[in-house]
Amino acid sequence: MKKERFILDTDPGIDDALTILYALASPEVKMEAITIVNGNCPMEQGTINALSVLELMKTTHIPVAKGMARPLLLPVINAEVTHGKTGLGYAELPAPMIKPDPRHAVELIRDLVLQDPGELNIVAIGPLTNIAMTVRLYPEIVGAVKHIYIMGGAINHCGNMTPQAEFNIYCDPHAAHVVFHSGIPFTLVPLDVTYQVLLTGSDLLKIEECNTPISDFIVKSSRYVMEYLSESQEVMGCALNDPLALAAMFQPDLLTMQHLVIDVDPNEGVSMGKTFADFYNYDKKKENGFAALDVQARLFVERFLERMTYISQ
Ligand code: RIB
Ligand code: CA
Repeated sequence: MKKERFILDTDPGIDDALTILYALASPEVKMEAITIVNGNCPMEQGTINALSVLELMKTTHIPVAKGMARPLLLPVINAEVTHGKTGLGYAELPAPMIKPDPRHAVELIRDLVLQDPGELNIVAIGPLTNIAMTVRLYPEIVGAVKHIYIMGGAINHCGNMTPQAEFNIYCDPHAAHVVFHSGIPFTLVPLDVTYQVLLTGSDLLKIEECNTPISDFIVKSSRYVMEYLSESQEVMGCALNDPLALAAMFQPDLLTMQHLVIDVDPNEGVSMGKTFADFYNYDKKKENGFAALDVQARLFVERFLERMTYISQ
């Protein structure tokens, strides 16, 4: 079975960390590198978190590169309220011994993508600043990236940062605009589907029974965001936003996709960061991306749970 190879561009973050675990628990994929961007937490903290999670998993060969510490134009925003002071909720990991790759994220992405043109995907689960910068500095990657799977946006669903905008896109709508119009084929995995894939309290109890450092990490990190979502948005569970974007790459059977004209409003104002699809293609434009609009939610959560339990043994 040919593995799907990918670079994970991320702002770890609780569901980002769960995505790293899901990738390491899935023999169908090969995570070639992790690149860090400002988002849930500052980029420096996100780098520490990614290295710590890899050490927790005794996986220290995967390069982790520091990326953009702020959006293209807008000021820095983070999501401490959702992911906690460290970005990993109630979980506490030892400071990592391993060091980041000396290259900037943009250089690492360029090197790996151009080394094997057409072979590497990018799974982007934070603001799209690193990807936009790579496209602008090295436009030759446009024909070399196999596909980008983006956790971000909301099509027929309300936002989670403003009534209109989802966090990753809202953080850097200009970067999203660059990526959506770059010519790189992409799949958007928006809140429409990610807010359906909820890890519940009883799911966490099953994982907790494993009683290992990995299960402890999963439970303590997920519980933090579960409490936030139930108090702030009446979402009853830990939304597996980012793991679902990874699943879109190697478990596409779970999702109902539509090929659409997809765009984002980058302008200041009430709809800044709003993503939308032109379902009637009023302007007769060429479709530029796929959007996941429905999901077999519990089937995904069960698959995720099975693999988290397996690695927690
Ligand atoms: O809106 C959800 C997204 O924003 C997820 O990627 C989460 O990790 C945060 O980055
Ligand atoms: Ca994220």
